[in-house]
Amino acid sequence: MRITEVANYTSMSEKAEKIILREVRERPLIMALPTGSTPEMLYSMLVEEYKRGKVNFSEVVTFNLDEYVGLSPANPNSYHYYMNERFLKHVNVSESYIPDGMAQDLEKECADYENKIKREGGIDLAILGIGGNGHIAFNEPGTSFESRTHVVKLSADTLKENSRFGEMPNRAITMGIGTLMCARKIILLASGKKKARALKMMMGAITEEVPASVLQKHSDCKIIADGEALRFF
Ligand code: GLP
Repeated sequence: MRITEVANYTSMSEKAEKIILREVRERPLIMALPTGSTPEMLYSMLVEEYKRGKVNFSEVVTFNLDEYVGLSPANPNSYHYYMNERFLKHVNVSESYIPDGMAQDLEKECADYENKIKREGGIDLAILGIGGNGHIAFNEPGTSFESRTHVVKLSADTLKENSRFGEMPNRAITMGIGTLMCARKIILLASGKKKARALKMMMGAITEEVPASVLQKHSDCKIIADGEALRFF
């Protein structure tokens, strides 16, 4: 795991943008994408670059990390809505997949999602944020490192943390930790002092109690974080 320290949120976003643009220009790319406040500026930078004709996403396929159970794509709190508004509707990605939190049979939806990832050839580049308790995607503390896409009951910590976006369902579909660890390259973004504790835990013992700690075992994982997020280092 390599750590790149940057000055602030803007430089974190710029650094991530540069890496993504390089990958997109080099080859067809299957990406895993996060939501949350961390990647917001990154998405707007990528959209700007596309609008200026500097990048073409026509050979890019995206898979979202997660989605709430029970929210329709029209619901502004859903990750479908987030992704469409901030990124997908503005660019020309060839295919974008987001778990269907409205599916009648959620177990089947999870299995289908894994199959779609497999069918597309696996994730080349996963962009991740991190939750205050060390969660990645919606894999809460205690989730098996072997897990694949599954339905999760969100912890009280996560519900509280995400309540700033409004009242959220307490279940979600998330790519598993095993799914994420199969990505060829992983970039985790973190900015601000509210991430400092999570980053410290993540660099500590590798344990299922700290989901992000598994990333220490990945052969190509880069953390891009600002000084505030890295203040305990
Ligand atoms: C949610 C998402 C995660 C994200 C986390 C942190 O729980 N499921 O993928 O990393 O929030 O969000 P933020 O970037 O808003 O701090």
